[in-house]
Amino acid sequence: MSDAKRRVVVTAALPYANGDIHIGHLVEYLQTDFWVRFQKMRGHECLYICADDTHGTPVMIRARSEGVSPRELIARSYEQHIKDFAEFQIRFDSYYSTDSEENRAFCNMIFAAMERSGAVSTRQLPQLYCEKDAMFLPDRFVRGGCPKCGAGGQYGDSCDTCGQTYSAEELKDAQCVMCGEAPVTRESEHLFFELEPFRDFLSAWIPKHTAPDVANKLLEWFSEPLRGWCISRDAPYFGFEIPGRPGKFFYVWVDAPIGYMASLKKWCGENGQQFDDWWTNPGAELYHFIGKDIVRFHCLFWPAMLHVAGVKTPDQVFVHGFLTVNGEKMSKSKGTFVKARTYLDHLNPQDLRFYYACKLNGTTDDLDLNLGDFVSRVNSDLVGKITNLASRGAQMLHKRLGGKMGAMDAEGRALWLAACGRAEAVAEHYEARDFSKVMVEVRNLADTANQYFDTQAPWALVKTDPEAARQVMTSVLNIFRVLAIYLQPILPVYAERVAALFREDPYQWADLQKTVEDTALAPYAYLATRVEMAAIEKMIEAGRNERMFS
Ligand code: MSP
Ligand code: ZN
Repeated sequence: MSDAKRRVVVTAALPYANGDIHIGHLVEYLQTDFWVRFQKMRGHECLYICADDTHGTPVMIRARSEGVSPRELIARSYEQHIKDFAEFQIRFDSYYSTDSEENRAFCNMIFAAMERSGAVSTRQLPQLYCEKDAMFLPDRFVRGGCPKCGAGGQYGDSCDTCGQTYSAEELKDAQCVMCGEAPVTRESEHLFFELEPFRDFLSAWIPKHTAPDVANKLLEWFSEPLRGWCISRDAPYFGFEIPGRPGKFFYVWVDAPIGYMASLKKWCGENGQQFDDWWTNPGAELYHFIGKDIVRFHCLFWPAMLHVAGVKTPDQVFVHGFLTVNGEKMSKSKGTFVKARTYLDHLNPQDLRFYYACKLNGTTDDLDLNLGDFVSRVNSDLVGKITNLASRGAQMLHKRLGGKMGAMDAEGRALWLAACGRAEAVAEHYEARDFSKVMVEVRNLADTANQYFDTQAPWALVKTDPEAARQVMTSVLNIFRVLAIYLQPILPVYAERVAALFREDPYQWADLQKTVEDTALAPYAYLATRVEMAAIEKMIEAGRNERMFS
């Protein structure tokens, strides 16, 4: 271990309970999983915390349309989500729900602090109300003509055609999306969390806790007074009622990030731990992984909420870009809006882990899943280059030499040492979330090992000098073992099978210090197989035909 033991809490954004997990989401949950698994392998105490984001109007509406209660709906999604994640080998330490008593208690505590600080104000707000559905309509639940360009069918917040933003009451001929009736405008009193009092705090906080491009964008807003944030919603609303304000509920984005705390608290309760030792403890680290669409919530409102409540703010918010497929936005009609489940029906989850790792570089750049490139990376790199070392080495050793490893020869040992010598570089790439560079390291080492294998030609050598051939294969397998250790955070099931081949336990980073020599191999189990374009085409076809909530 090169550094002292760290205590690290890591979160990924909480997926909405009213939607299915799709391959866009997986960009986030996979990279967070890579990072957490890496930290654990290094011997640190690290927790991967997440939950379903359950509250809000969309859940309420969807439950209504399916004739179930919101709680039944979120229970069903919960089961589906954890199943999808598990099959993608995503391992949470705690996966909870924002609809929990722990979360309500934290919300009330933070809201009380917000009120005490004087940063909560009330204002009368005109809003569209549907008399037929008896509810105020969120922006996504009204459609009408854009007040600027006149394009029809636009939502209540912005126009898809001309890009104009406006408020829903400005729409022409607005209609409720649920019943088609024209809404009326009604006034209602709302609570606002004022941000202007936090100007100095936030303008200092943001550049220290986000990447420069993220910070610069956020700081653009600081040239004008910061606008207050509306934190209340009127009944009927699926969420937490605001203490002392009957009929008013916390806006879902208030209780969602607080759900990180609730999920950690739940884990603490189940593991005999104290919340304060993990979150509040200045010696513990706290990181949020999020997509670029939700930066405002995590880097403005959230630090202000925590600050006012005297709760530790995150050390860093890691922001990633969006998934495109073949260079375009994911699209339902093109079949590229692929659900996690649909992917699993047709392809191997390990291949997506591998591919995303090849492309993720720790920046906010969008990530492209190019389907042709996916096939070639899996087939030529994962199967052809990397796995080939094990399958050729182990199978030949089993077939010709009784499955017994010997010692490495001098040249092989030198290559093995050189492979181990990349450990710190690989670790730095992991730490920086530049998984693409981890993959470059692994590919380069695999290339060298393949060259050595081919030059030594053990398949011929075994006929003339079987012990020399045993040495060559022992060397190749030891180098391969190093690659498997480097890959373990990305390909955990794969690495576990490699460990089993050598009759070892799942790896820790410190296992790089060992070799496997003079031992018997376990039978060779399949590690990775080629992917066929036909399977991908079937998946896209299935994606085009299915019903999707997102
Ligand atoms: N519920 C909120 C987050 C609350 S966190 C306190 C939410 N949910 S989401 O389901 O829409 O998205 C969850 C995460 O997945 C977000 O970080 C989002 O950026 C990410 N992604 C959703 N679609 C994505 C892509 N197409 N590409 C990459 N990441 C994407 O936002
Ligand atoms: Zn209506």
